[in-house]
Amino acid sequence: MDPKLVKRSLELSLKNLQLSYVDLYLVHLHIPLVYDGDDTNVSPKNEAGNWNAADKWDLLGTWKAMEELVDQGLTNSIGVSNFSISQVERICKVAKHKPVTNQMESHIFLPQTDLFEACKKHRVTITEYSPLGSPGRPAEIKKADDPVVLEDPVIVKLTKIYGKTPAQSPKDEVKAAVRAALDADYRHIDTAYNYMNEDAIGEVLQEYIKSGKVKREELFIVTKLPMIHMDPKLVKRSLELSLKNLQLSYVDLYLVHFPIPLVYEGDDTNVFPQNEAGGWRAADKWDLIGTWKAMEELVDLGLTKCIGVSNFSISQVERICEVAKHKPVTNQVECHIYLPQKDLFEACKKHGITITAYSPFGSPGRPAFIKQASDPVVLEDPVILKIAKKYGKTPAQVVLRNLIQRGMIVIPKSTNPERIRSNFQVFDFSLSKEDMEEIDKIKTRLRYFDSMGVMFKDHPERPW
Ligand code: A2P
Repeated sequence: MDPKLVKRSLELSLKNLQLSYVDLYLVHLHIPLVYDGDDTNVSPKNEAGNWNAADKWDLLGTWKAMEELVDQGLTNSIGVSNFSISQVERICKVAKHKPVTNQMESHIFLPQTDLFEACKKHRVTITEYSPLGSPGRPAEIKKADDPVVLEDPVIVKLTKIYGKTPAQSPKDEVKAAVRAALDADYRHIDTAYNYMNEDAIGEVLQEYIKSGKVKREELFIVTKLPMIHMDPKLVKRSLELSLKNLQLSYVDLYLVHFPIPLVYEGDDTNVFPQNEAGGWRAADKWDLIGTWKAMEELVDLGLTKCIGVSNFSISQVERICEVAKHKPVTNQVECHIYLPQKDLFEACKKHGITITAYSPFGSPGRPAFIKQASDPVVLEDPVILKIAKKYGKTPAQVVLRNLIQRGMIVIPKSTNPERIRSNFQVFDFSLSKEDMEEIDKIKTRLRYFDSMGVMFKDHPERPW
């Protein structure tokens, strides 16, 4: 950590890594040890057997030496690790290149809230190490009665609700699902700024495009304008954020996610700002046509091939069609055997607008708070089970085929590779007119995502 040794140290690391630069170089710990001339002796001991710390430390001197590494192109960015709030602040006061992150032990038993907030003020992120509570840490720092992160009762309860393991990373799961989908020949990928998985999708798209497994032109990438960015002034910037996440120069379809704008509080990560009652903080008024004009400009700018809407009512679609230069190409809505959306389908058809059916299976994996034990289950409906048996197909394949034959676009969701593949096997059979009619006669009616409408019960733009 002596400023004179810093550059040479990174050069040793670069040699080991066989790289010409790293992306991020961190000061490992806030305590310099005495350098005794041996680069392999990384924790020199004093006479008492403890680490031989230097008496004094020129923190800002070390930082200046770190900054030079950026200027010399040896690292793209610099940061710190295990630093206290005051140490981070001392650096930020004078830094030419601020630390981009402070890498810290952090997990449910050590949430680092104060440090996180203090660093955030300086736009310094926190990188969590040991998020799982380091269950494999050395025996000398492990006590039998230490609480165990992955066995915490709250975490164990949540794993059951979400069907996950205590350590599961949603990002890895998304990446695996996208790979499985592309391998199974899916080309239409539906995401949204709000889903916070655009970056994971983008990584896999790059991987597949670069390796030549798919061409960009073969893909149909859909993402959505979040409710916090519906102010016409924010629309273009929002798509640019999505494109950056997706590592793309354009999307194929950009949708207005929901017809109610939320108040933008200046924080792009707070996609559902709350009101005092704990609900979402809706803006009182909305310039629907203004938002649509801003969407149209995105087409003219080549940032998206086409535009559409999601969760819109018939009258909202019609208000747009009255004045649109570029009409919506689709209205993406919940649609399945218990919510067939016949009126909306017909009304949209008149304007040449398709329906994209989300939750074609009635979203069996929907969150527990919108699930009741007594809810009817699409994939267990007796008519569907009977027809599935007759064709030697799964109930999922039958309901997808039914929607496709009705003229809908379907976007089944799965993270299970086997089900991802089987949900694609719907082009090798067709349902007879009689079977289509029998499904059409099913009387059960249910909107699984009713709560979205209910939450805005007094809002003039509430779509249901
Ligand atoms: P999984 O990811 O474990 O496959 P929807 O598209 O209606 O929102 O439904 C998505 C849910 O349906 C997911 O929880 C998914 O679980 C489940 N699912 C997807 N494909 C099938 C299938 N072929 N059979 C049963 N469940 C499925």
